[in-house]
Amino acid sequence: MRLWLRFIIPLALALTAVAYAVVPLVDQLTLKWFVRDLDARSSLIANTLQDPLQELIRDGARGKILAVFNKLTHDERLYAVGFCEAAPGPLLATPNYPPELGCNSLDAILAKQSPLLPSTRGLLHVSVQTLRADDQELGRLVLVHDMSFIQRRSEETRHYVFYLFIGLFAVVSVITGVIAQLSWRGWVAGTRAIMRGEGLLWPVEKVADADLQPIARDLRSLIRDLEAEYRVRDEAQVTWNPPALRTILREDLRGDEIMVISNREPYIHVRNAAQGIEVQRPASGLVTALEPVMRACSGTWIAHGSGAADRDVVDAHDRIAIPPEQPSYQLRRIWLSHDEEAGYYSGFANEGLWPLCHIAHVRPTFRASDWKHYTEVNRKFARAAVEEAKKSDPIILVQDYHLALLPRMIRERLPEATIITFWHIPWPNPETFSICPWRAELLDGLLGSSIMGFHTQFHCNNFFDTVDRLLEARVDRETFTISFGGKSTAVKRYPISIEWPPAEAVTRKGVAECRADVHKRHGLTEDHLVGVGVDRLDYTKGIIERFLAVERLLEQESRWIGNFSFVQIAAPSRSSIGDYQDFEAQVRACAARINSRFGRDDYLPIILKIAHHEPDEVYEYYRAAEVCVVSSLHDGMNLVAKEFAASRDDERGVLILSQFTGAARELPEALIVNPYDIDQCAAALHLALTMPLTEQRDRMRIMRTLIREFNVYRWAGRMLLDAAGMRKRGRLTVSEVASRPRLVRLAGRRSR
Ligand code: G6P
Repeated sequence: MRLWLRFIIPLALALTAVAYAVVPLVDQLTLKWFVRDLDARSSLIANTLQDPLQELIRDGARGKILAVFNKLTHDERLYAVGFCEAAPGPLLATPNYPPELGCNSLDAILAKQSPLLPSTRGLLHVSVQTLRADDQELGRLVLVHDMSFIQRRSEETRHYVFYLFIGLFAVVSVITGVIAQLSWRGWVAGTRAIMRGEGLLWPVEKVADADLQPIARDLRSLIRDLEAEYRVRDEAQVTWNPPALRTILREDLRGDEIMVISNREPYIHVRNAAQGIEVQRPASGLVTALEPVMRACSGTWIAHGSGAADRDVVDAHDRIAIPPEQPSYQLRRIWLSHDEEAGYYSGFANEGLWPLCHIAHVRPTFRASDWKHYTEVNRKFARAAVEEAKKSDPIILVQDYHLALLPRMIRERLPEATIITFWHIPWPNPETFSICPWRAELLDGLLGSSIMGFHTQFHCNNFFDTVDRLLEARVDRETFTISFGGKSTAVKRYPISIEWPPAEAVTRKGVAECRADVHKRHGLTEDHLVGVGVDRLDYTKGIIERFLAVERLLEQESRWIGNFSFVQIAAPSRSSIGDYQDFEAQVRACAARINSRFGRDDYLPIILKIAHHEPDEVYEYYRAAEVCVVSSLHDGMNLVAKEFAASRDDERGVLILSQFTGAARELPEALIVNPYDIDQCAAALHLALTMPLTEQRDRMRIMRTLIREFNVYRWAGRMLLDAAGMRKRGRLTVSEVASRPRLVRLAGRRSR
């Protein structure tokens, strides 16, 4: 009520004042117009009468003149007519003619500015027209018009203006009242909220009517999202470490849950005759990269429980908290039967997809029975993912070629999940990929992902080409997306890396001590130079090629015979597969041949250590060596190259790196070689062994800087930020769609 008084009364007063000012103005204006009209009318009448009057005057027919005048005054407005002859004569006038308008007073009337004459009847308009004939004045015609009709009209106009203002007042006061009501409440609540320290948008929720609340909520979340996006957008400004990842999870993903799914588990429990159960860290680039990420992010890692003692240590839900020394995330183990492992892991994944994706000249084998197991095991992983998901929209990081069907299977069960699939190995060209009889099923499975990641742009391009060739999908190379079955998958390059700085446990022992221990272990003299290779015993790693390069070096540079040894650490891998068994035999034979050719009792050119080595043992060799050789025939990234550089905090040592690794694109300061070119590799070995320390330092510094800046936290962070962006966009699209009917409803109601 107070509000109406506050707004409506001032408005009424203002309008009344305006009305009072306007009405006299309108009166004056209309009077002016009428006087002008009557002036024109009078001259018209005078002009019309000129000729007939002239004749009647000449004839002295006064009676007739009066008759004409009387006829004229039948006109409603012409009140009286008079005529004063030029030759003095009587005034000829109609009966109403005002007596004050005698012939002698006409000059005075003419001299007056205004033709208006007040009378008892009201205002009269007097017009004196001089009639002439042959330049002679005949007399003066006086036409008197009644102005009372003008007064009547003026009154009518005043009434109209009055009603107009009343109407205007009513409309304006209703609009003003409503607006004032809303904004007054808004401002009051806004001011109160600001005083409470809240943002400006918050009060809208409390003040506006119920229909505005969802819009305010959407706006608020949009602003919050934009703020968060802006905050971390510039990834170059972020120091990438575990806290940075946790910040992304907290602020950009609002504590959303993370799940990693891979075939290989990060910790394997094995039985050991001496100690009982022992924990091993598997030789896997995937595990090397993801384990520190999971330590930073927490969450759940789902993987195949492949260790002999794995079942002994899990809880009733097949879970175990890891890392053992300081648990920070959950490992959920999946159990596979012997047949499942043989068909899915050894068969389809490692005899089929692995050789298919690597150019290593091993023929891929595809069997229908393996495919069946591959499909079933992927389904088993999908079931576990659904069981482990605490929300309907978890973020799931699916890893590698063992689980190509999993993204689609999860998408079907958890449509709101954000699925990031990372393909750790190369992606072949379409012709090669077409060899697989289940190529379309694999692509369909992968395109259930929200994001598909590869190490290099080359592999992304191969993937685009393959999908383009084999599926009815829309491939957009400008936005890096593939639309398939109405859903879109972003395909992006995320070069994987390692944790930085390396764990204290692996660099604790000084370089000199590592070198001394390694030399002692292998009976080498102080000045003996050492090369190192660290790989799984896999035919893609170019192990034989590097042995041949050592052999060629010894052939060409005899000074290294007895003074240089190459230590090959080879983790046994996939040993149930025939190709791997053959390969191990070839490696052993090659090493033995070279050792027998150049070795002596106290000297082995090649020291082959086929055994599992824990990370601290591997790092000891990295730190003890003069040169590290990574000679993969084909490799997605190869993290050994990055680990070697990371381990050398003394800025010494030389990296020889195959041009066929993803790492070669990031570490051009290494000596880049073609592993098939044995002479070139031998020359690189010689160059490395003779490289001045300053050059070693310069190259090592650049590589270490790159790995420090592009560490694994950045790799994961970039993917999570992209996932966060997608989730925000998804939420906005959903809320936009949801708010549209509300807006329509709102508009409908307001217009009623
Ligand atoms: C490659 C694959 C990984 C795999 C690793 C070790 O790096 O990309 O997925 O874990 O090799 O192989 P394994 O068969 O022992 O898991």
